[in-house]
Amino acid sequence: LVLIVDFGGQYNQLIARRVRESKVYCEIVPYTTPVDKILERKPAGIIFTGGPNSVYEEGAPKISKKIFEAGIPVLGICYGAQLIAYTLGGVVSGSEVREYGNTKIKVDGTSPIFKGIPEENICWMSHTDHISKLPEGFKTTASSKNCENAAIANDKLKIYGVQFHPEVNHSEYGFEMIKNFLFNVCGISGSWNMSSFVEDKVKEIKEIVGEKRVICGLSGGVDSSVAAVLVHKAVGKQLTCIFVDHGLLRQGEAEEVYKTFREKFDMNLVMVDARERFLSKLKGVTDPERKRKIIGEEFIRVFEEEAGELSDAEFLVQGTIYPDVVESGTSTSATIKSHHNVGGLPEDLKFRLIEPLRELFKDEVREVGRKLNIPPEIVNRQPFPGPGLGIRVLGEVTDEKLEILRQADYILRDEVKKAGLENDIWQYFVVLPDIKSVGVMGDERTYAYTAVIRAVESVDGMTSEWYRMPYELLANISRRIVNEVKGINRVVYDVTSKPPATIEWE
Ligand code: XMP
Repeated sequence: LVLIVDFGGQYNQLIARRVRESKVYCEIVPYTTPVDKILERKPAGIIFTGGPNSVYEEGAPKISKKIFEAGIPVLGICYGAQLIAYTLGGVVSGSEVREYGNTKIKVDGTSPIFKGIPEENICWMSHTDHISKLPEGFKTTASSKNCENAAIANDKLKIYGVQFHPEVNHSEYGFEMIKNFLFNVCGISGSWNMSSFVEDKVKEIKEIVGEKRVICGLSGGVDSSVAAVLVHKAVGKQLTCIFVDHGLLRQGEAEEVYKTFREKFDMNLVMVDARERFLSKLKGVTDPERKRKIIGEEFIRVFEEEAGELSDAEFLVQGTIYPDVVESGTSTSATIKSHHNVGGLPEDLKFRLIEPLRELFKDEVREVGRKLNIPPEIVNRQPFPGPGLGIRVLGEVTDEKLEILRQADYILRDEVKKAGLENDIWQYFVVLPDIKSVGVMGDERTYAYTAVIRAVESVDGMTSEWYRMPYELLANISRRIVNEVKGINRVVYDVTSKPPATIEWE
């Protein structure tokens, strides 16, 4: 286990990814976690992230000196490196110029962090402050033109700091440096993989659940499907899956889920038709965050009612994944959107939660799915948010708008499939904004909705690039949507990446 102590830097998830890619299990913990709690978990190594503050500012995040006294190797990145210097008696100073972007550094190849790395290489800098005086026992192991102490080391205490960001791709040998820290300094073997994850989780779930009954909200998406099959593997028929048709699903989805999980996996599966219930709760509501909260809460209520039938059901499985947890502000980064799996839970929740995928990134969840022999159609399925079409119909959600969106979305999916691009595009869907515009069809003036096509490439949903969709395909989709869907007279393509936009529109 490696613990990444989060000081609010923007690349923190990337650090976690690099560690996981090295087959080392890691978790991100907020810097406010008491040091005793961190040490209790006996991490093999600790990484301090970057952060937006200056260490000498009042109220800047600090950490107790105790963390350096347990003999656990520490790597500090950017702010993390400055914090190491500051805490151990060095000096951090501001400067006039900001060093930003690709920067040439010269490294000391005898330092374990830089083992096997060319003496001169390019790394990514983004800082104004710098370490101006080293703490006792430390030496400089890398320098750039404007930053003498670009890396510092105390080999005896196994404490290392780098001013640059080894986690970003722009740092040529950054990944190697992180691996050097994990393997050479911490002495970790790097054997964590999805098979061991499945084994561990199955064991853990069995222990936690015992003879009790478990309920799982199955949406048919990758996350909840993998979570359900994983728990099913652990507790079999003690698990009952509940599929709520909240009316915010894509065309044909309810039927598909029923077929797959009943026939293929032989699971206990209850189908609930709650379409009217959700729609009436959403009536008149336009604020996206409120919509998410309402949908999330209503979901849980439906489960609770169904659980009445299974009076001893004590656990609820959710397909929450790591980005949901981090983006919901349970970590230190600011709340971006409240994902319905996490932020929308009512406070008087009656179940104990089992969230077996809580530590995993999306691509890791798919890998677990493959290990569980879940068919590729499900494992490779594009992500679909819990609140469903409820957050793709912008503004008030009505039956009419949902139907229009469903038809348009079906055409998009159909055309992408025909073009053989299903597995090339990470996520693609239609958004229906609350905009009407004028058009002309035949000899008639029309005044109807605009459909937005959104298609993105991504690895884990945390960042994404808009998909360069072939013009011919766009032309087909547009023509079919306008011709076949009553209520749409215009189609536009979203060409924004994340950041600054998010993938969904609400
Ligand atoms: P955003 O819009 O935040 O989306 O860039 C990132 C990825 O997460 C999906 N998403 C959700 N998934 N519950 C979920 O399970 C949610 O509330 C939710 N909101 C967004 C989104 O489709 C994209 O893949």
